[in-house]
Amino acid sequence: MIKKAIAVMTSGGDSPGMNAAARAVVRTALYEGVGVYGIHNGYQGMVDDDIEKLTSRSVSDLIQRGGTFLGTARCMEFKTPEGRKKAFDNLVKHGIEGLVIIGGDGSLTGGSLLSRETGLPIVGLPGTIDNDVWGMDYTIGCDTAANTIVDAINKLRDTASAHRRIILVEVMGRNSGWLAMMSGIAGGAEYILVPEVKFNVDTMCKELKEMYEKGKRYSIVVVAEGAGSAVEIGKEVEKKTGIDTRVSVLGYIQRGGSPSVQDRMRASMLGEKAALAIISGATNIVFGFNEGRVVGVNLFDAVNNKRTLNPELVRLSRVLA
Ligand code: ADP
Ligand code: F6P
Repeated sequence: MIKKAIAVMTSGGDSPGMNAAARAVVRTALYEGVGVYGIHNGYQGMVDDDIEKLTSRSVSDLIQRGGTFLGTARCMEFKTPEGRKKAFDNLVKHGIEGLVIIGGDGSLTGGSLLSRETGLPIVGLPGTIDNDVWGMDYTIGCDTAANTIVDAINKLRDTASAHRRIILVEVMGRNSGWLAMMSGIAGGAEYILVPEVKFNVDTMCKELKEMYEKGKRYSIVVVAEGAGSAVEIGKEVEKKTGIDTRVSVLGYIQRGGSPSVQDRMRASMLGEKAALAIISGATNIVFGFNEGRVVGVNLFDAVNNKRTLNPELVRLSRVLA
């Protein structure tokens, strides 16, 4: 049992809902009579001792805000054993007995090493828009990000239809096609290019040209950044089809925005779960959602396995095109 204090941090690419999760961790810990510290700027803050005692008021007016009030960062020093030792010593100095990490697979990997090297109790929450954490089919922020992308696709449809164009939309996901697949299917895209599935640009161009010649007014192609550059692929598409082609790289707009109801609800439930688990003495668990229910996944399993794309969705995206 933890009686004195825990800490919470956000790390890696920010995502809408991180604030809701951190807010739930803080308020649950305080409700249980356990102190809670906020680590600013991810592992960089842990290394630099940028650690602040939080109160219930520290997380006021946050649930509706994207980003993360704690800040996040990429920290190369933490990738070294010396950096992790320095970080751990800072936690000990504050009397912190357990740590909740809200981040993607990289951040959770860092947490698994910290746990193994120091024995510090660690519980993770999947804070990333990529939806690519093993053992679960949802990550905090993926719903808001997918809705942002679909809103952009809806707008791009108008101009693509007006000009009878093909428009390629490049979306985030680093090395995973999940976000592209979700938003591509929801956005009614004709093609969805993902790193997990080999594609042939010549075949795609042939099919796009045939659809156009049969009267299709415009096409939308969603390109996951891990599958390639939409700008380069767009040049090939225009050359091989002869159809006016444009490209929109959505970039960082996908990471912002007020979190959706689903992200707020699920982030709040996961934040409470993580706080109660770490206080009760649990460790090396990542809490997430799978098939609509909260699941606990072993931290080392989560970081040592890659979440694969559901082939059913790949098939569906071709059938509905
Ligand atoms: P995300 O958590 O969104 O995947 P990153 O992959 O950038 O984001 O990881 C965020 C931070 O986690 C890194 O800047 C680094 O401090 C830490 N981290 C990532 N991978 C490792 C690793 N293999 N070993 C130690 N720390 C890591
Ligand atoms: O991991 C989340 C993510 O948004 C990826 O989808 C994207 O490729 C990456 O972060 C961008 O990283 P940065 O914010 O460091 O440019």
